Amino acid sequence: MKAIEKYNFPVSEIRRFLEPGPVVLVSSAWKGETDIMTMGWHMVMEFSPSLVGCLISSGNHSYELIRRSKECVINVPTVALAKTVAGIGNCSGAEVDKFKQFKLTAQEADKVKAPLIAQCYANLECRLADGGLAGKYNLFIFEVVRAHAPKRPKYPKTIHYRGEGMFMVSGRSLNLKRLFRPGML
Ligand SMILES: Cc1cc2nc3c(=O)[nH]c(=O)nc-3n(C[C@H](O)[C@H](O)[C@H](O)COP(=O)(O)O)c2cc1C
Repeated sequence: MKAIEKYNFPVSEIRRFLEPGPVVLVSSAWKGETDIMTMGWHMVMEFSPSLVGCLISSGNHSYELIRRSKECVINVPTVALAKTVAGIGNCSGAEVDKFKQFKLTAQEADKVKAPLIAQCYANLECRLADGGLAGKYNLFIFEVVRAHAPKRPKYPKTIHYRGEGMFMVSGRSLNLKRLFRPGML
């Protein structure tokens, strides 16, 4: 393959290349109040226990609800909810009830007090496993203690944030199972 010509790229904008998995909606609850925020910065950290690291800015209203309750639900929307995802990420739960504003249905979770969002493809109930880096980096490490997902489709059309208001919609799958050692699947 030919070398690709490059130029000096601003390091503060490299998220365009590294943006991880799907944009998700994080729902939370504390003392009767609920909130939802949009989140693109997250990473899977371990299979078992099932750990996920989440970047939740202290400027967000959700930060306080999550810090106090030590729980949340990570909801995975599909492209059908793209405009809702953008809307939720551009207003504050301190001012609006986002479930009402965006006509979303709050469902009771099994293991946490934070509500599931019924319209999302999957719902991951989370308990805080380690908040040690929340003060310095806004990094919350959650354990997924219950997961809800439909049988089909196996690969939903999720949306992935590229910055500057641009999203990528997940596309075709590539099956490379034959190249994997069993322990790496
Ligand atoms: C596409 C998108 C991705 C976002 N990703 C994050 C994120 O990873 N972490 C974060 O703290 N805020 C993120 N935000 C911003 C919050 O969703 C936004 O500040 C929201 O209004 C917070 O709501 P709240 O104040 O009700 O908690 C994102 C927003 C958008 C639109």
